[in-house]
Amino acid sequence: MYKYLRNLLFRLDPEVSHELSLDMIGAAERLHLVKPFAPEVDNDPVEVMGIRFPNAVGLAAGLDKNGDYFNGLGDLGFGFVEIGTVTPLAQPGNPQPRLFRLTEEQAIINRMGFNNKGVEHLVENVKRRRFTGVLGINIGKNKATEEEHALRDYEICMEAVYPYADYITINISSPNTPGLRNLQFGEALNVLLEGIKRKQGELYSKHGKYKPVAVKIAPDMSEEELAQVAATFLHYEIDGVIATNTTLSREGVENSEYKDEAGGLSGRPVREKSTAAIKVLAEHLKGKIPIIGVGGIMTGEDAAEKIKAGASLVQIYSGFIYRGPELVKEAAEAISSAS
Ligand SMILES: Cc1cc2nc3c(=O)[nH]c(=O)nc-3n(C[C@H](O)[C@H](O)[C@H](O)COP(=O)(O)O)c2cc1C
Repeated sequence: MYKYLRNLLFRLDPEVSHELSLDMIGAAERLHLVKPFAPEVDNDPVEVMGIRFPNAVGLAAGLDKNGDYFNGLGDLGFGFVEIGTVTPLAQPGNPQPRLFRLTEEQAIINRMGFNNKGVEHLVENVKRRRFTGVLGINIGKNKATEEEHALRDYEICMEAVYPYADYITINISSPNTPGLRNLQFGEALNVLLEGIKRKQGELYSKHGKYKPVAVKIAPDMSEEELAQVAATFLHYEIDGVIATNTTLSREGVENSEYKDEAGGLSGRPVREKSTAAIKVLAEHLKGKIPIIGVGGIMTGEDAAEKIKAGASLVQIYSGFIYRGPELVKEAAEAISSAS
C-alpha cells in the first residue's frame, strides 16, 4: 500500500510531502487507525544501555523534531523512536528549499538546520505519551549560541527532557549547524562530555532514576579520529554511541542534479561509510559501550549487516521514506534471524 501512497507523495515538493505524511499519521493515530494498517512486527526484545527494547529497530532523529507525531510513528512497529533534534529555543532552520530527494540513488540531501519549536513545546508533547516502546530525545544547540557556550544549551535541554526520555542523545554531528561538528574533537569534546556527565549525575540524584546518554557522531571521520572519540567516550563512561549522522561526501551521487546542494547526504550512499565507522568503533569500544547503527539501511540485509559490524540496535530514516513501514518489519525479522 505504501508503494501507491509513495507514488503520490513523491510528486510533491519533499518538504510538503514530509509535512503531509506526518499529518496523515497524526490524524490516523487520533482515530486509532495506524496499528490496524501497519505490518505486524514480531517483537524480539533486547536489552541495551540498561533498557529493554521491544525490538532492535528504531526511527532515527530528525523526522519528528518536535515530538508532535511519535505516538503514531510508534504504532508503525518501531521498537524505539528518537525525537528531536530539539534546541532550547525555537528556531526556523535554513531557508527553503532545504530538502532534496535523490530518487535514483535512494538518497536524501538535507540542510534543514534544526528547525524546531523549542524544547518546551517538545516536553508538552511527551507528557501526552501513549507510545509503549522506548523513547529517545535528541538534543542540540541553537544556531545563535556560540560554540564555547554549547554546553549550556545541552544542559538546558537535558534538564527539560530528563524526566520524560528513556535515553538522551547528544547530537554533535549535524553538518547544518555551523561549528557543531567541531565539538567532536579534542578539548571541545572533553569539556562537553565532562559537563554532560556532571549534569547527568545531578539529574540522576534529583529524579532518582538513571537515564542513559548516547552521543551521535558523523561518518566523516578518519580511523584515528574514531579511535580518539572511542577512547574519550570510554573515559567519560558515555552510555551509548549512535553511528552515524549524514555525510558531507557526494560519493555515489555524482550524477544527480542535486549533488551540489549543500547539506548532509543520507540513504544508500552513506551505508558503507556508516558500517565502516561502526566496525572501527566496535574494535575500540570492545563491548563496553553499545553502538546504535544508522546510515543507509534500505533492506533487512542492511540492518543485519550493521548488527554484524558491531551494533546492538539500528535506526532508519531515509529507508523509511523510500520503503515505508514494511522496512521496519523486514529489518526486525532480518536481525532476529541473524542473531
Ligand atoms: C531530512 C533529515 C533530517 C534529519 N535531521 C536530523 C536531526 O535533527 N538530528 C539528528 O541527529 N539526525 C538527523 N538526521 C540524520 C538521521 O537521523 C540519520 O542519522 C541519517 O539520515 C542516516 O540514516 P539514513 O541513511 O537511514 O537516513 C536527519 C536526516 C534527514 C534525511
